[in-house]
Amino acid sequence: MTAYLYYVPLSKATLGYIGALTLLATVTATSSSTESQPQANQRSLGYYRYHLQRSFWFIFYYWFARHLPVSYKYHILGRASKYLRQVACTHLFHKAGKNVNVEQGADFDSGWLVEIGDHSSIGIRCKIPADLQIGNNVMMGPEVMIFGPNHKSDDITIPIQHQGYEATRPVTIADDVWIGARVIILSGVAVGKGAIIGAGAVVSKDVPPYAICVGNPARVVRFRNSQESK
Ligand SMILES: CC(C)(COP(=O)(O)OP(=O)(O)OC[C@H]1O[C@@H](n2cnc3c(N)ncnc32)[C@H](O)[C@@H]1OP(=O)(O)O)[C@@H](O)C(=O)NCCC(=O)NCCS
Repeated sequence: MTAYLYYVPLSKATLGYIGALTLLATVTATSSSTESQPQANQRSLGYYRYHLQRSFWFIFYYWFARHLPVSYKYHILGRASKYLRQVACTHLFHKAGKNVNVEQGADFDSGWLVEIGDHSSIGIRCKIPADLQIGNNVMMGPEVMIFGPNHKSDDITIPIQHQGYEATRPVTIADDVWIGARVIILSGVAVGKGAIIGAGAVVSKDVPPYAICVGNPARVVRFRNSQESK
């Protein structure tokens, strides 16, 4: 507990954060938390209120809730931390199911198009893109990295950083998937229902349902619904 307190940014800047949070909370207090995402061309009062409200939860998550303890330690403090992160993500994600657990240090960019099902988790210090689809009962170990579109690199006369991004479909993770620690999942991959991805795997191709896959590049070693290894 004492060790944890060192991670809380107790500086003069903290007072600024609290001031900004209070101001945003006051301004957004009248808006409904269940408002749906307005279209970009709707420059109405609701549009600005919606984005102001998102800004509040964004600051709340990235400057405060994200740094709170992991959910399974420090008794009530861990559970309270889980709850605060869950509340923030309910407002930031496109869809969030019941009993979602977003762990300490998780980074989901803006979370704008993240969809996560019931009883699913985003693990400690995981980094996911803003357009990920996660099913129900998905477990994610620590430090998993899931990537969005790649940089374009076709033109050798222009630096890669100025070529923009390729258009790709988002990564999708079906129900009941277990993703081990430090797994890397590359852009556009679909992970099938009930699959297990071993620690440290680099997944570049779709994973079939109930497959257990390991390694770099990830290969299927067997299927959960079959006794034989592959
Ligand atoms: C994938 C996993 C579940 C497989 O467990 P298992 O069913 O007991 O698999 P086995 O031990 O029978 O291993 C099967 C083969 O895969 C290899 N293997 C297993 N896990 C591996 C991994 N993470 N990376 C590379 N190879 C792996 C084994 O060496 C074995 O190879 P072999 O057939 O050439 O001898 C497990 O190894 C794993 O990685 N668990 C994730 C743990 C984790 O990240 N926890 C975080 C908390 S959520």
